Amino acid sequence: MLNREDNELLCRVGPGTPGGALMRRFWHPVCTSAQLPHPDCAPLRVRLLGENYVAFRDTEGQVGFLEELCMHRGASLALGRVEEGGIRCLYHGWKFSASGSVMETPNHADPKYAQRLKAPAFPVREEGGIVWAYVGPAGQVPPFSRYAFMDAQPQHRVVLRINVACNYLQLVEGGEDSSHVGVLHTNMARPGWKDNEFTRNPDVVNPAALASNDLEPTLKIEETAFGFHYVALRKTDDPKIRNARVVPFIVPYGRIIPAPAFLFTVLEVPEDDMHTSTFIVVHGDAPITEEKIIELLGLNDPRYYDRKSCTFTASWADTFGQNRELMKENWTGLRGVEVEDATIGLSQGPLYDRSREHLVPADQAVVRVRRVLLESIRRVAENRQPAALGLDLRGVSACDRQLDENESWQDLLPSHRQPATA
Ligand code: FES
Ligand SMILES: [Fe+2]
Repeated sequence: MLNREDNELLCRVGPGTPGGALMRRFWHPVCTSAQLPHPDCAPLRVRLLGENYVAFRDTEGQVGFLEELCMHRGASLALGRVEEGGIRCLYHGWKFSASGSVMETPNHADPKYAQRLKAPAFPVREEGGIVWAYVGPAGQVPPFSRYAFMDAQPQHRVVLRINVACNYLQLVEGGEDSSHVGVLHTNMARPGWKDNEFTRNPDVVNPAALASNDLEPTLKIEETAFGFHYVALRKTDDPKIRNARVVPFIVPYGRIIPAPAFLFTVLEVPEDDMHTSTFIVVHGDAPITEEKIIELLGLNDPRYYDRKSCTFTASWADTFGQNRELMKENWTGLRGVEVEDATIGLSQGPLYDRSREHLVPADQAVVRVRRVLLESIRRVAENRQPAALGLDLRGVSACDRQLDENESWQDLLPSHRQPATA
């Protein structure tokens, strides 16, 4: 369990909070590139760390990221016109460039006034099919951290965003919790479970496909420069061989989950204390389509996912679409990895009070997530660098392999041990 004070420290990310101060040291995904599909397209209202912004793509294709409310008298720029190299407020026509310069103030023709002003604009990068922004203290912009998926060929990569109405930490913890994979995702992890037979899921794209039928993995954890990595060791039929599934935790909310032929990089970006934008990037050495991933995640059912707004739409209003009849042969009565994960996260409530939980050794990695984040919050409060900040993350990966008794799991991903610099 976690005392209430620490739970609040970890979960609250708004302006002025210690958790928010940690988050504000990092670059964050703010939307997918596909959400701003062409120059002068509709702008996008973005909620990030409890504050509102507008993202837009100007005539040159450059993305701007500004405070949502117009600096004149506060109308939302997300309703504005995007045209001729900037975004124009509907109310009195003030126009702003992607860098925040005031291009026109039609209700006050003297250009000197506009020249003196600058709209609050933030540094933006567009990499790997994602728009990233930095909204932290000016003068402390860290080097931009690159991930391996950014080097993948576009046809070998799929980027999805799923907005889920619960606190980010619930979703992060689900991602660092190997023991749930063989249970919650039974249908995909252990097809044949109903007849007490273990058959391996042949789908090489499915990250819930388990190579072993052991529901009680042994976890081992090691600290790294980016946070930590841990292994879940599962017994196999051969007593000398264990299955090793290694997953990293990248401060403040990142992970990489292995599928047989692809990697799933998942970033749980807090919109505010009770809403999260999950960015999932799938990449590998072979072509992959968005349709395939959407189906695998269970998001091809309109009851669960609105593709236009990227929102996970199921709720208690219809008991998350759970089908009790289906449960005779389907463990959850739900379909798809993300449908199961998001439903469980939502079922914990908008912000779970961890002072009421009861942990077991299988929860060790979850406990480590909290410890690393609390330590990072402390470091930022003391003006020190948190883990992972500004590191080159291209060597961070995940794997699922057979391991014989003479091998060490840390050697499976030797790049995790190298001190990384940006
Ligand atoms: S409020 Fe935007 S121009 Fe006046
Ligand atoms: Fe899961």
